[in-house]
Order: sequence, then structure tokens, then C-alpha cells
Amino acid sequence: MEEKILVLDFGGQYDQLIARKVRAQHVYAEIRPYDSVGVDEIASGRYAGIIFTGGPHSVYAEDAPTVDARMLNAGIPVLGICYGHQLMAHLAGGAVASAHRGGEYGKTAVRTLENVLFAGIPPESICWMSHFDEVIEPPEGFEVIARTSKCLCAAMWDESRRLFGVQFHPEVAHTAYGERLLHNFLFEVCGCVGSWSMGDFITREVKTLRSELEGKRVLLALSGGVDSSVAAALLHKAIGSRLTCVFVDHGLLRKEEGAFVEKTFGERLGASFVRVDARERFLGRLAGVTDPECKRGIIGEEFVRAFEDEARKLDGVEVLAQGTIYPDIVESGRGGSAVIKSHHNVGGLPAAMEFSEVVEPLRDLFKDEVREVGERLGLPAELVWRQPFPGPGLAVRVIGEVTEERLAILREADAIFREEVEKAGCAECASQYFAVLTDLRSVGVKGDARTYGYVVALRSVTTDDFMTAEWTRLPYAVLERAGSRIVNEVADVSRVVYDITGKPPATVEWE
Ligand code: XMP
Repeated sequence: MEEKILVLDFGGQYDQLIARKVRAQHVYAEIRPYDSVGVDEIASGRYAGIIFTGGPHSVYAEDAPTVDARMLNAGIPVLGICYGHQLMAHLAGGAVASAHRGGEYGKTAVRTLENVLFAGIPPESICWMSHFDEVIEPPEGFEVIARTSKCLCAAMWDESRRLFGVQFHPEVAHTAYGERLLHNFLFEVCGCVGSWSMGDFITREVKTLRSELEGKRVLLALSGGVDSSVAAALLHKAIGSRLTCVFVDHGLLRKEEGAFVEKTFGERLGASFVRVDARERFLGRLAGVTDPECKRGIIGEEFVRAFEDEARKLDGVEVLAQGTIYPDIVESGRGGSAVIKSHHNVGGLPAAMEFSEVVEPLRDLFKDEVREVGERLGLPAELVWRQPFPGPGLAVRVIGEVTEERLAILREADAIFREEVEKAGCAECASQYFAVLTDLRSVGVKGDARTYGYVVALRSVTTDDFMTAEWTRLPYAVLERAGSRIVNEVADVSRVVYDITGKPPATVEWE
């Protein structure tokens, strides 16, 4: 039987990260809400081990999320993390209270004793803490196996039942030996062998999609970005011609991008791929518009229209597929923050349309995992490794009015910059790099004549999550070559500047 770890979700910030870190060690991790799994299911031996995640509650609060205490006696190893550690203590008869020396937040030195969980980890290391409660009295049968200066029970174990609790977060990169700790739990305690791969994810997902979508027709908005492309390839493998992918070409794509998407998917998907030429309708509506939010609003609206028009031509489509990935869910779940930009995701659910079902086959995966799925499905590396591109396309990189002429200037400048960055091997340290056409004109001299052309800005950022970003320290030689080629090869550009602003205070895109 396939080895599998159950990640029991108590609502912590890093729950998905736990699953990802387990999967990175080639063991499949399934995340399920804490109240959706009973003791019988655990006892049936489906899982090699269980991880209780962190969570924002206090175990002693009246409505605190909990599980049947018999879960600890089912003979399956359990690792409790943060709230999960406290819950384990609480369920087994120990005591948890508000930390009397104050909680701990951030990087903290931890001293660990010799234990199977800490094999290969030095006795003193750095861990990531984030808690206000703590275990003040470990339950009977448990021994304390780690401490910090404030937390006297930073980890505990019950050897006979193979139960472990850690107050800190091994899944977070700031815990120096977190990966090793998880490895020890998976391989030394649960006896996993690490035979799972993304290939198994594909096999399982294709099987599930086939049975869930039996006899149904599915529509997917394909942007040519990584996520919707991988979703398309996966769905096509599962249901073949019952999938229709609609690629709305809004005329705001980069140089040769539309043709590339059409070639890649036209060949692969055959009749399942439809390219809608909506260039005129988008540019028509954008004429004379200069306000960034207005541009975004128009593009979002027109996209839905174009998509709906196409969907109407298809008979009997009842399921909408989306390339949503896990970080999208996290970001949309964070309510209450100010709208900085109204992001328009091509592939987003058109609110006005009616579908009886929505499928999101990549919703549990992180970007790097999605890329691996794409590679395994045989998508071209050029597509799988492409940088993110905003739904509203070049419209938010042409400052001021968007016209055919201005788009053409930007496309050329952008292609040159990308080519120079890639040729110099700098693409790996830059997460996103592109050109922006400003609405400024400036005086220059070409040959002996005066010119009065546009100012093009080059932007390159380095980031893990795009929530914050640093400007990339590109070598001067790369900037010089790109700058000189742009003013020489692109008519109507007289000056090139490089954007050295981080996010915050700036955003990645200019509009
Ligand atoms: P900002 O400019 O908000 O960009 O710092 C962060 C990341 O999001 C991309 N971006 C978008 N992606 N629809 C998208 O699908 C949008 O409307 C949109 N606006 C920005 C941007 O390219 C960067 O990767």
C-alpha cells in the first residue's frame, strides 16, 4: 500500500507548508480538517503517521478544536506541532497554560536531548517559535526532550506510543534542522521509505478527475501562464476531448506569445483548444483610458464577456476548471487588507456565469510542485519555467493610453531586455524582469540629429513570494547591453532607465 502521512489541520498558518515539506521527502501527505477523520479510519492503517498542525486557539478554551483522545492509542506515530503539541499534552492528561515567562516569537535557541527525533541535529540549534501558550506539565508517560530559555517543554515524547510533540515549527525555513527533524519522524519513527513522487500525484489526480468528471464537459480559461497550462495538460490527460480550453488573446501579450501558446496547445490539445481573437474589442474599450484601475476594470470585464461568448457556443458545458494553486487560496483568504491593485486573474471565475461545478486540480500545490507536474506531463521547459505575467498583460506596463503603436514599442524593448537577461544567465536570480513604456518623452541624439522619444524603464525583481521584493542587482554589463540595444533597435525610444525600488514601497508592476 502507498505510504501516506495524515496532516490533521487545526487552522495554523503553516499547515500547507508541512504537507509540502513532507512531500519534498518523497512521502505523500494528505491534509484533512481536524474534525473530518475518525479513530476507526486511523486504526484501519491507511496512514503511516499523523501530524497535528499548529493553530491559533488555546486548547483549554471552550470551543477549541480537538480530536478523539483515542487517536493517540491507535498504534500510529503522531507528531504534534505547536498547537498540535499542546493538544497532545492536553488529551493525554498534561497541563497547558498561558506561557508564564511570556510567549516566544521568532528565531529561538533550543537545547535538545539525544532522541530519535533529533538524530543528526546538534544539541543546540535555532528553531522558529510562535506561541503564547505552553505545556507546563507533560502528561504521564511523556519525557521532556527539548527546552529553550523560556519554554521548559519545547519538545516531549512518549516512547512506548511513539508520540512526539514540538512547540516550535520544523516546517519553517528558519528552523535550522527542521527538515532533518521531519525526516527523522517520517523515516526513523514512521518507517516510511520515501517512494512517492509527483508522478504518483498525476496518476492519482487523473484517476480522481476521470471518475468525478465522468460524462461531463469542462471549460478552462487558458492564459498561457504556468498554472492554467499545467491544469489544462492534466485535465486533457484525464478527460481528453471533453475538455475545451479557451485562450482569449486580448492583444496585450508579449512578443510572439500568442503564437507560442497556440502552437504549444494547438498541437497538444487539437480540437480542445480555441484561440479567441479579441484584440479589437479590448483595444477599442481601452482607447483614451489612462487610469490604471479603470484599465484593469475594463480588461477584467471584457475578459469575462469574451469568455462567455465562447462558452455559449459550446453545448452542455457544466464544469469550470481553474488553475488555482495553493498560494492563490492563501492570498484571497487574507481579508481586511486595503486593495492595492485589483488583480485580475485570467482563469478567474466569471461571476456572471453559471456552472454547476468548479474543479481546481492544483489547489494543494505550490508553484515549484506545479512546475514539476508540468515537466512530467511533457510541457515545454520554456512554458513551465516562464516568469509570472499579469492577467491585464502589457496594458499595465504601458503607462498612459494603450495603443497598438505603443504596445509595439514596448514589445520590442521588452523582448530585447529579456533576451539579454537570459543570455547572461541572470534569469535564475531574477524572479520577474520586464520593460515598461512610460508616458514621458525625452530629448536624445542619434547620428547628428535631435530625437524626442519615449523613456523606457527596465524592471527586475527578486522575490520568493511576490508579496515583498528586492530590485535585482543585475550586472552593469547586462543593463548596458540591453539599454544600448533598445535605444538603437527600437524606433521612438530615446532613453532607458533602471528601476531600483523595492516592494514595498513600490509594487512590482508600475500600474
Ligand atoms: P504587484 O504589482 O501587485 O505584483 O506587486 C505582484 C505580482 O502579481 C502580478 N500581478 C498580477 N497578476 N493579475 C495577475 O494575474 C493581475 O492583475 C496582476 N497584477 C500584478 C505581478 O506581475 C507580480 O508577479
